[in-house]
Amino acid sequence: MQKLLIEGGHDLNGQVRISGAKNSAVALLPAAILADSAVTIEGLPEISDVDTLGDLLEEIGGSVSRDGQDITIHPEKMMAMPLPNGKVKKLRASYYFMGAMLGKFNKAVIGLPGGCFLGPRPIDQHIKGFEALGAEVTNEQGAIYLRANELRGARIYLDVVSVGATINIMLAAVKAKGRTTIENAAKEPEIIDVATLLTNMGAKIKGVGTDVIRIDGVPSLHGCRHTIIPDRIEAGTYAIAAAAKGKEVIIDNVIPQHLESLIAKLREMDVTVEESDEQLYIARNRPLKSVDIKTLVYPGFPTDLQQPFTSLLTQASHSGVITDTIYSARLKHIDELRRMNAVIKVEGGSVIVSGPVQLEGAKVKASDLRAGASLIIAGLLADGVTEITGLDHIDRGYEKLTEKLSTLGAKIWREEMTDVEIMQDQNM
Ligand code: EPU
Repeated sequence: MQKLLIEGGHDLNGQVRISGAKNSAVALLPAAILADSAVTIEGLPEISDVDTLGDLLEEIGGSVSRDGQDITIHPEKMMAMPLPNGKVKKLRASYYFMGAMLGKFNKAVIGLPGGCFLGPRPIDQHIKGFEALGAEVTNEQGAIYLRANELRGARIYLDVVSVGATINIMLAAVKAKGRTTIENAAKEPEIIDVATLLTNMGAKIKGVGTDVIRIDGVPSLHGCRHTIIPDRIEAGTYAIAAAAKGKEVIIDNVIPQHLESLIAKLREMDVTVEESDEQLYIARNRPLKSVDIKTLVYPGFPTDLQQPFTSLLTQASHSGVITDTIYSARLKHIDELRRMNAVIKVEGGSVIVSGPVQLEGAKVKASDLRAGASLIIAGLLADGVTEITGLDHIDRGYEKLTEKLSTLGAKIWREEMTDVEIMQDQNM
């Protein structure tokens, strides 16, 4: 087991290249189940979530070959193998096996998914969609059983705007008989990416990127090649790090339109942000002004950047208020930031971050992926050395993080933990 060490106070300078989008990757891989021949996905991030999903595709009989960042999935020999336990529990996105296997085999058994603890994360809207398409869905000893004689298109109104439910219903509906309409659908770029892959496979989908998606079922889907979109949350994390500790940072392989809400907030803080086709230029040459942020569904401010942004706000001129309307309990980074001298109050549904504060290096633990990102940004800003454990969370979603930050001039490295440290960490 390793820990991450950061000697704070060094400016970031230079260029960093963003990887393929984690939250697309985790849906694109299960989507390949629906094809009758090989699907190649190019530009996948080298993160543990991708490895886990590759293993799960093999568990159901697929053959998965990897060539650097490109993965080819041969679905020809896949079967409706039950996946009640094991690796499905490692990540939330294993729920996409429900929609994809139901769409392909009319049945699936998938253990209730794990992933980051962000408070309650129900999947009732996914189930509502599967049932509307004609599936019988039961929860038996912590696994979801889905069975259908045949899937038929339906009109489905989502009671909450959900990325996962929108994608999962698309996966189940692309081969259903007739037309499916998803109303109040989510509009995240990852949904468009998945729909693009499915369309390349022969699916008929209209309206993605709006809140009404129409799908006309087709009897079969074929293989194809698809290039994944860049990871807007990874790009946003580096943009926030650059605003916190950067002199001049260029973020390469990014779609700036995917980050409009963050860019607007950084500019309000007096950070210089310039956009070009595939790059962002970020420079900080003035003190940071405080801002408030409220997370919303896309194109609003992403909940996944709320925790990293908290660390940035510790450097702003006054207090800033963060309200997460998607996951109000996504707060596990706060106690850790307090250990680093941050002054943060939680009042009702809001987090009030006081600035400017000199953060101090400390031993802290990442409780989830984006909490990890927030601690890393705090570590870059802190006086002295910050030790971060819980790297398994960070490695789920950030490719080559240590290397990328080192290239920008950060003093960051990994060390093996001693047995005593591992024991102490488990009690933290
Ligand atoms: N919700 C329900 N019922 C449902 C589904 C969702 O009430 O059936 C609620 C959730 O509890 C939440 C809101 O709806 O309050 C939105 O949840 P959504 O379904 O959109 O989230 P998700 O699909 O489970 C994805 C990302 C998350 C990201 C959220 C919100 C993946 C694998 N995960 O989760 O990413 O925070 O959308 O944008 O795509 C991360 O990358 O760190 C991460 C957690």
